[in-house]
Amino acid sequence: MTTSLPPVADEHIAEQVALAARRGLTSYPKRLPPWLFYDEAGSRLFEQITELPEYYLTRTERSILASHAGEMIAQAAGNSRLRIAELGAGSADKTRLLLTAAVASQGTVVYEPLDVSESALAAARKRIEGEISGVIVEPRRANYAMGFDLPPAPYGERRLVLYIGSSIGNFDSEEATQLLLQVRAGLNTGDSLLLGVDMVKDAATMLAAYDDPAGVTAAFNRNLLVRLNRELGADFKPENFAHCALWNAAKSRIEMHLESSVQQTVRLAALDMDVELAQGERIHTENSYKYRPGHAEAMLHATGFTHQATWTDAQGWFTVCLGEAL
Ligand code: AVI
Repeated sequence: MTTSLPPVADEHIAEQVALAARRGLTSYPKRLPPWLFYDEAGSRLFEQITELPEYYLTRTERSILASHAGEMIAQAAGNSRLRIAELGAGSADKTRLLLTAAVASQGTVVYEPLDVSESALAAARKRIEGEISGVIVEPRRANYAMGFDLPPAPYGERRLVLYIGSSIGNFDSEEATQLLLQVRAGLNTGDSLLLGVDMVKDAATMLAAYDDPAGVTAAFNRNLLVRLNRELGADFKPENFAHCALWNAAKSRIEMHLESSVQQTVRLAALDMDVELAQGERIHTENSYKYRPGHAEAMLHATGFTHQATWTDAQGWFTVCLGEAL
C-alpha cells in the first residue's frame, strides 16, 4: 500500500501533500496521488465533470438508484430499522434518492456521512437536513481508508454503508480489498454495504468520459499542478502539460497522466527540490478501474460479505451491488 489513499486528517494535509509530491516526483515513472485533485477548485471541477454528457457514470448510477432505491432499502433493512452511513460526503444527489426511500419506509432515518474533512461534513449536513425532512444527519469525521470506528448500530437497527460513485475504482485491487476489509471490520453481522462500480465497455465511450471536448477533465487534471504551486511554492506551468487519458486494457483501467510538452525543470521551493521532466515524460495522476460482471460480487465475498443483489442499467454500463456482512 499505497499511493491513492487520502491523508489522515485536515491538520496533516500540508505534510501529506509535501510527502506525496516528494515521493511521487522522485519515483520512476513519476506519479502524484489522485486525492491531490480535491482542493476547493478541484472539487468544483469534479462536480462539473459529473454533469458532462460524456461522463456517463454519474447519470447511469443515478438512474439505477432512481429505479431501485426502494428495493435496496428494503433488502438492506430486512425487518429492522436502517441507518445509512456513506464513505465520503460527496455524492449528495444520489444519496438523496436512498435517504428519501428510507424516510418513505420508516418515517425518519439517521444519515452518517464519513469524511476526513470537517468542511465537507458541515456542507453535507446543511444540504441534506435542509432538503429532506425526516433525515437526521450525524456527521462522522474519519478516514475510512484507515478503518472506521463507528459506534455499533443501536440494538434492533442495521447500518447500510454506501460506497457509490465508482470511488472504489480509484484503488487497485489490493487497496480496494484492504479498504473493504476495513469497512467490514467496522460493521456488525447483518449490516450491509452498497457498492457502485463502473463496468468495462467500449474503449471510446470510456475514454470520452475522461477526455471531454470542453476540457473540464483536462482542467481537473492540471489543477493538481496549480495546487502544488500554491501549497509547495512550486513553479509548474500547467500550460506546459498535456492532459492524457488512456485505456490500459491489460489492467482494466483508464489512466490519467500529465505529459510534459517540453523539456523543463520545475522548482518546488517548499521541498527545496528541482524536478527535471523530459519532453513527452508523463506524471501518472489517476487510475480508474473498470469492472467485469461478477468482479464486484467476488470482492464482496472476499471481504466478509454475502452477495445479496446486483442492479444494473439496460446497457450494463454501471453496477450497484448489495452485500450483507457475514
Ligand atoms: C471520483 N472518481 C470515481 C472519478 C473517476 O471516474 O475515477 C474521478 C474522475 N477522474 C476523472 N474524471 C473523474
